[in-house]
Amino acid sequence: MDLTTSYMGLALKNPFVASASPLSENVDMIRRLEDHGASAVVLFSLFEEQIRHDRDAMEHFMGLGTESFGEALSYFPEVEDYDVGPSQYLELIRRASAAVDVPIIASLNGVTERGWVDFAKDMQAAGAKGIELNVYYIPTEMYRTGTQVEQQYLDVLRAVKKAVTIPVAVKIGPYFSSFAHMAGQLDAAGANALVLFNRFYQPDFDIETRSIVPSLALSKPEELRLPLLWIALLHGRIKASLAATTGVHSSVEAIKYLMAGADVVMSTSALLQQGPPFLSRLVADVSGWMLKKGYTSVTQLRGSMSQQSVPDSTAFVRGNYIRVLESYKART
Ligand SMILES: Cc1cc2nc3c(=O)[nH]c(=O)nc-3n(C[C@H](O)[C@H](O)[C@H](O)COP(=O)(O)O)c2cc1C
Repeated sequence: MDLTTSYMGLALKNPFVASASPLSENVDMIRRLEDHGASAVVLFSLFEEQIRHDRDAMEHFMGLGTESFGEALSYFPEVEDYDVGPSQYLELIRRASAAVDVPIIASLNGVTERGWVDFAKDMQAAGAKGIELNVYYIPTEMYRTGTQVEQQYLDVLRAVKKAVTIPVAVKIGPYFSSFAHMAGQLDAAGANALVLFNRFYQPDFDIETRSIVPSLALSKPEELRLPLLWIALLHGRIKASLAATTGVHSSVEAIKYLMAGADVVMSTSALLQQGPPFLSRLVADVSGWMLKKGYTSVTQLRGSMSQQSVPDSTAFVRGNYIRVLESYKART
């Protein structure tokens, strides 16, 4: 069975990628992910705020701004003790790249285009084969228009693209008034892949303590529907590769995403719950299903259920919605 795929210009042995998660904090775990079949590993995100904090602190420490921050300087550690997020992150890229054969994709999480994006260069120099740029932004300002928000995404992407020669993927959420247009703009701005979708952190309330509960729930398979829809709609219409993230808990979801047109299928929740052997099962189960159905390659499977491939292209949009509602009326 030929499971090979190409993702943002990287030749991968199969379409199963370990997405950004705490599992990648540890090189032994990255090795285990590779051993169980991961064709690439996306590291957890390094945040713009971490890079900025590091640089601000270093500037003060090196004497810039010492007049105004003289007293505060005593709080800074000695240079040799200065072990902060960004340098550790680069070290992880170096060690992981040396430990495994599969590509290591570094993840940058940011929303502005100044003062930190050149860190992408350091990631490339450390051995990252690609960068996943997670633009995790919740626009709450009432004066900002949709166009301004979209421009911000494009500005940060262009700035990162300018800093590196390795491919850059953009991981985004679905909340744009015209997602197809946004995808087209990111494609035109040079995104080598779109990673669909970010699951936005949605805090809960504890009504007894009347406090906000920060919780990050793991996904469920049913959550694949929205990314599935958009991958099926975008397949064949943009140059950028498509990565599916959300809800892959078995071969069924992985096959659906590939049929919709995903170049790779990513997993975090299932890996956190079932550990790296989940990937071995995914490789075996997807291959077994393909064999049974007469497929010989992932290329053959990819996009076979995309909007461009199905006989009724309205099946993904309004036409089918109306049909579904009608069928409920007929039943009652
Ligand atoms: C505990 C946890 C940590 C995560 N950390 C990151 C991260 O650092 N950067 C990122 O882009 N996504 C992060 N994600 C999101 C995942 O990469 C993934 O996109 C999301 O969980 C949906 O995929 P899943 O359904 O396979 O879990 C995290 C998710 C979880 C559950």
